[in-house]
Amino acid sequence: MKNILFLLISLFFILSPVLSNASLIEEKKCSVCHRLSKIEVAKIGPDLFYAGNKFQPTWLLQYLQNPLTLRKAGTGFNPGFLKGEFNNSHPVLSKKDAIQISQELMTMIFPNMPDETSNLKALSKGQIAKTKYEFERTFSCISCHQSLNLAGKPRGGISGPSLIDAGNRLQASWVAHWLKNPKMFSEENRMPIYKMDDETRLRFTQFIMALKKENVR
Ligand code: HEC
Ligand code: HEC
Repeated sequence: MKNILFLLISLFFILSPVLSNASLIEEKKCSVCHRLSKIEVAKIGPDLFYAGNKFQPTWLLQYLQNPLTLRKAGTGFNPGFLKGEFNNSHPVLSKKDAIQISQELMTMIFPNMPDETSNLKALSKGQIAKTKYEFERTFSCISCHQSLNLAGKPRGGISGPSLIDAGNRLQASWVAHWLKNPKMFSEENRMPIYKMDDETRLRFTQFIMALKKENVR
């Protein structure tokens, strides 16, 4: 009996930090605007149930303390989408809460996402120019996404999220999966499915990962 009691008490102390950690996202009611699992209905904020695959932890920690507008026209699901100014008065977290919540978010992982990007060779100048041409002309990604031209000037449409700082914000492996099939994460999102061969898709991934706000001229 004593042994069981001892076991229960130890278990409580081992588990309690885990249990209290798991609750800050709930406590802050992030799920009012964000899906925290795939089975929920679409919400006005972007999905977070695969945050651990999608974001770079440093970026996430900054964003939660100092949120910036990435979707000038709003997300696809907010009622005023494309109809006018999108007012993103996002909750701002203290550093302490941001650390805890970003740790919680980084544990939210989508299954079966092997990394195809770990052994890629850096793009040559020629490949960068080719990809930029395809990004703008062949696939017209630029019509929905802000990006940088070769002179480092921001340009592009606003109906999709800005990619200007994608290289500091997103994980390469996630981008490669997103370009293969964005609908694997949600049926409802407005990003078109492209039939890209793997060479093009991985080249696009590297091109996107080279977009960084430090390169804005
Ligand atoms: C009132 C609705 C609302 C609430 C509550 C809310 N968010 Fe958001 N969140 C949004 C919207 C809308 C965006 C997209 C803003 C943009 O891209 O300009 C966003 C963006 C984000 C992003 C960036 C996602 C991406 O793909 O770019 C993260 C991370 C995030 N929110 C985390 C949180 C966390 C954690 C909480 C709880 C503390 C929270 N949000 C509460 C509406 C909300
Ligand atoms: C018709 C508009 C449209 C076009 C064209 C388009 N996208 Fe998108 N894209 C979107 C939207 C909308 C999202 C956000 C979807 C969501 O979160 O539900 C998105 C998301 C993304 C993301 C993830 C960014 C993030 O922060 O969530 C990447 C990367 C991306 N697109 C790359 C591309 C590339 C590369 C092309 C061209 C091959 C392209 N897109 C063409 C609309 C578009």
